Amino acid sequence: DWTSENVIAQQVERIRAQIGDKKVICGLSGGVDSAVAAALVHKAVGDQLTCVFVDHGLLRADERRQVEQDYVASTGVRLVTVDAADRFLGQLAGLTDPEAKRKAIGHEFIRTFEQAAADLVAEAASEDGEPIRFLVQGTLYPDVVESGGGTGTANIKSHHNVGGLPEDIEFELVEPLRTLFKDEVRAIGRELGLPEVIVGRQPFPGPGLGIRIIGEVTAERLEILRRADRIAREELSRAGLDEEIWQCPVVLLADVRSVGVQGDGRTYGHPIVLRPVSSEDAMTADWTRVPYDVLSHISNRITNEVDEVNRVVLDITSKPPGTIEWE
Ligand code: XMP
Repeated sequence: DWTSENVIAQQVERIRAQIGDKKVICGLSGGVDSAVAAALVHKAVGDQLTCVFVDHGLLRADERRQVEQDYVASTGVRLVTVDAADRFLGQLAGLTDPEAKRKAIGHEFIRTFEQAAADLVAEAASEDGEPIRFLVQGTLYPDVVESGGGTGTANIKSHHNVGGLPEDIEFELVEPLRTLFKDEVRAIGRELGLPEVIVGRQPFPGPGLGIRIIGEVTAERLEILRRADRIAREELSRAGLDEEIWQCPVVLLADVRSVGVQGDGRTYGHPIVLRPVSSEDAMTADWTRVPYDVLSHISNRITNEVDEVNRVVLDITSKPPGTIEWE
């Protein structure tokens, strides 16, 4: 019988059998999958688990707090946050091409995570000589099918400033969600008592807001987008549209300016694009028919509350031909 309770009990047993008394690490992205995978492993082996959360500075408003406070409070996991916003912004400076931005973010992410993992491995070894052998990943069933099914190991390259480590640290993977679909993962997350803001979260791309700023990514532009995105999310949720909307990218056209008027003054600001889509699996999507009064309210709030934005536009393109994200 499929119940979340049964799946949890079964997985806890499997995880214990795999990990024994060894140490294990898990990278948290802020998304549903890694959050549930880590919670399962924590339930199974407690403080043998350490989680690593890389804050690349491309997160939405409040996401870091939700992981560091709400998630940690509800699970009790040991969490190390890596503050890497400056490093990522440095890598992104001057880049405008979408693929170049993606590549820069991806590379920096791997470098940052490897560094953190290597540090933890060194620390664990010097504490009690007990190596970290395992790495948790939130792989879902559809990911397994797509990638051809193998399970296995991952290598982390150690860095020169970490003394006494082999060149490569090999981890055995722990993947407790390999047989599950997204809705099942959400059900398990709820059963484990994870915060709804994380369990119910819309899909959010790994490169984060970095690919929702059309143009160069800067700290100022990220702040503008964060404020607009928070308003859109608040109002769509308040209107009860979270079920209907698969996700709603909010995009800043940072290199476009248009003339507006506010009070007595002429403005020359940036447009914000709302991209609400309905979808089953993100392969195809249709634009969501959000009620006009909700759109109107979002537009008023964004233009009133975010100074640099003087225009809000709605993306009414299906996928195909448009992708869900703008980059
Ligand atoms: P597109 O824009 O291709 O997006 O229609 C389909 C789904 O994938 C997400 N997406 C990403 N997720 N890294 C990710 O982890 C990425 O680089 C990335 N690009 C797009 C997107 O949010 C949508 O759910």
